[in-house]
Amino acid sequence: MRYNRKLVFICEGSDCKKAGSKKIRKELKEAATEGSLKGHCKFFQTKCMDMCKSAPVVIVENHFCKNADTKMIMEQIKKA
Ligand code: FES
Repeated sequence: MRYNRKLVFICEGSDCKKAGSKKIRKELKEAATEGSLKGHCKFFQTKCMDMCKSAPVVIVENHFCKNADTKMIMEQIKKA
């Protein structure tokens, strides 16, 4: 059996927070409670990942998303 849950790491450091990472996390969590993603995503908050110039930073599986927005992350989750 294949483990099918996608891991998403959202930076919650100060620069990413200022750039809207909290809002992204909230929107992603809402989106992941319905449709095909329901039960297939696990979200983690992280401390600063030392890439503050590209804030907000989100990691989906093994892919770094710089200057992330909700739409970009959703596409990446579906691809991963
Ligand atoms: S605050 Fe997110 S990378 Fe530094």
